[in-house]
Amino acid sequence: MKTITSIAEMQSIAGELRVGGKRIGLVPTMGYLHEGHLSLLDEAQKQSDVVVMSIYVNPTQFGRGEDFERYPRDLERDEKMAAARGVEYLFEPVDREMYPEGFLTFVELDKVSHLFEGEFRPGHFRGVATIVTKLFNIIRPHVAVFGQKDAQQVFIIQKLVSDLDFDVRIRVAPIVRDPDGLAMSSRNVYLSESERAQASVIYRSLKLAERILKEGDTDLVHVRSEMIRLIDSVSDAKIDYVSFVNTSTFDRVESTDGLEKAQAILAVRFGKTRLIDNMLYDLGH
Ligand code: PAJ
Repeated sequence: MKTITSIAEMQSIAGELRVGGKRIGLVPTMGYLHEGHLSLLDEAQKQSDVVVMSIYVNPTQFGRGEDFERYPRDLERDEKMAAARGVEYLFEPVDREMYPEGFLTFVELDKVSHLFEGEFRPGHFRGVATIVTKLFNIIRPHVAVFGQKDAQQVFIIQKLVSDLDFDVRIRVAPIVRDPDGLAMSSRNVYLSESERAQASVIYRSLKLAERILKEGDTDLVHVRSEMIRLIDSVSDAKIDYVSFVNTSTFDRVESTDGLEKAQAILAVRFGKTRLIDNMLYDLGH
C-alpha cells in the first residue's frame, strides 16, 4: 500500500491509473477505522480495479463547539488495517493543502442540507459536499462507496453527483452493527460503559417500528411516537429528532399511503456523544 499526502501526487497517480485503463474505486473516511469502514472496501473492490481510501478529518464539516479537536485519530493503526484489507492507495491530505489560506469556494445544497442533521449541525453538509467534491476532483474515481449508516449524507451525495454532473457512480453499503445492534461508529469510543449499554435502545426502536409496520399500521405519527416512548424510557437518552422520510425526496412523511418504502432516521445523544442511525422498511405493496 502506498500512502500519499500531496494533492498533486494523488492527482498524478489517478491520472496514470485512468490512462492505464484502471477503474478507480474510492472509499472516503475520517479514519479511526472500524468494520463499518472496512466493509465499504469490499464493495469498492468488487466495483473497481484499484481502491483508494481517503482518511481526512474534515474541519469544515464540524460546527463550533463540536468534536473536531477530540475526534478520535490513530493513523498508524488505520494504515495497518487498510493495508491488511487490500487498499492500494491511502490518501491522507493535510489541512494546509486542502484548505489553504484564502480558500473561498464551498458547495452547498438547498433545502435538504438544512433539515434533520443539518438543523442540528448547521453547515455540516456544506462541509461534506465541499470535501467530497474536492476528493472527486483529486482522485477522479469511477465509483465511490458510502455507508447507509449516514442516510442523509448518502442522499446529499447522490443529489450532488446528479445536480453537478459528476462522472462517478455512487454505491451504498449496508450498516454494520455490533452484536446488540448499535451501528458501528468512530464516535462510539466516547460512550461510558453505562451509556454504551443504553445506546442499544436506538436499534431496538428501529426494530420496534419494523414490527409495528409489519402489523399493517400505516400511521407513521403513531409509529414514531412509539419509538420515542421507548427511547425516552432510557435514562440518559436525549432525542434530537426521530422522523420518517420518503426515500426518494427525503421529505418528512406521516403515513405509508402510496409509499413502497419508508425510512426512519434518528439522532440521539448520550451525554456528550451524539449517535445517528436509520432503517429502511419495505412496505411490501
Ligand atoms: P466517516 O464517519 O469516517 O465514515 C466514512 C464512511 O463510512 C461513510 O460513508 C459512512 O457512512 C461509512 N460508515 C460509517 N459507519 C458505518 C457502519 N457502521 N456501517 C457501514 N458504513 C459505515 O462519513 C464520513 O466519514 C465523512 O462525512 C466523509 C464522507 C468521509 C466526508 O468527510
